[in-house]
Amino acid sequence: MHSAFAILFATVCEAPLCSEKCMSTDDRLTICQISDIHCGSAYFVPDLLERSILEINDYHPTAVVVSGDLTDAGYRQEYEQSAEYVRRFGCENLMVIPGNHDSRNVGYIHFERLFGERYSVIEFEEAIMVGVDSSEPDLNDGRVGREHYGFIRSCFENARDKLKIFVVHHHLIPIPGTGRERNIIFDAGDVLELLTDVDVDLVLSGHKHVPYSWRIENMFIVNAGTASTTRLRGNTRPCYNVIEIEDGRVRVFRKYPFKERELIVDFDAETHEYSRFEERVDSEIHGPHYGSSLTDR
Ligand SMILES: [Fe+2]
Ligand SMILES: [Fe+2]
Repeated sequence: MHSAFAILFATVCEAPLCSEKCMSTDDRLTICQISDIHCGSAYFVPDLLERSILEINDYHPTAVVVSGDLTDAGYRQEYEQSAEYVRRFGCENLMVIPGNHDSRNVGYIHFERLFGERYSVIEFEEAIMVGVDSSEPDLNDGRVGREHYGFIRSCFENARDKLKIFVVHHHLIPIPGTGRERNIIFDAGDVLELLTDVDVDLVLSGHKHVPYSWRIENMFIVNAGTASTTRLRGNTRPCYNVIEIEDGRVRVFRKYPFKERELIVDFDAETHEYSRFEERVDSEIHGPHYGSSLTDR
């Protein structure tokens, strides 16, 4: 049960609730989003996660978002391992939400014990982040659920002109380069309407392991890839997102562990001017020679 007016912090400590507003330490707010780390998977690569954590800590982020699929099958030992990693983030503002893999085998019991509420809100002077659980026990499909719409609406409406960020594991609209569409959120249409109605600026999600960005109305939907596994589609690489917010300007970077970072989305939340670097996104999925055959080269 959550209160629409409480500010909840999902942390790995025993007492995940806090009623104080967080203050960013300087003019820039940096949010790092890491997703689909899948501890326990045969495809899990510890070096990638350890490196990602070091890099993220170097950003000195205002907040870290872990957007689901921390485990592979929701087992206790997988959860313990994921919590060990999550504890290494040197950031007090931690938002962790479950993914479909975390709700397998009654895994949500371990989630709540280790990470606290499955629904949480972090509020700053400049921005608000609302995270929800879209998983259903032992199903791959996602669902937000009408019973949570009031909570989501009141959080964002009370935030007035702050930058509004919604965090959910499953994708709200299909992601290209992911094969047959299967696990889109059941009530995606209603959720999209709700989010645009309350002027959400940015949606952060994961699940498909393919990084991508969409723009709908004045809202950007940014999908993170998997940070620490080789469960990859096409030519995608392990990655995570770095979001920098300063004076209403939002820049989303895709960061590859050990490697470079790329600017993916750049928008002004007030004027709605934006740049979206779709070409880079397309080449990431399909490879640098997408559209040309061997004989063209
Ligand atoms: Fe995943
Ligand atoms: Fe998932």
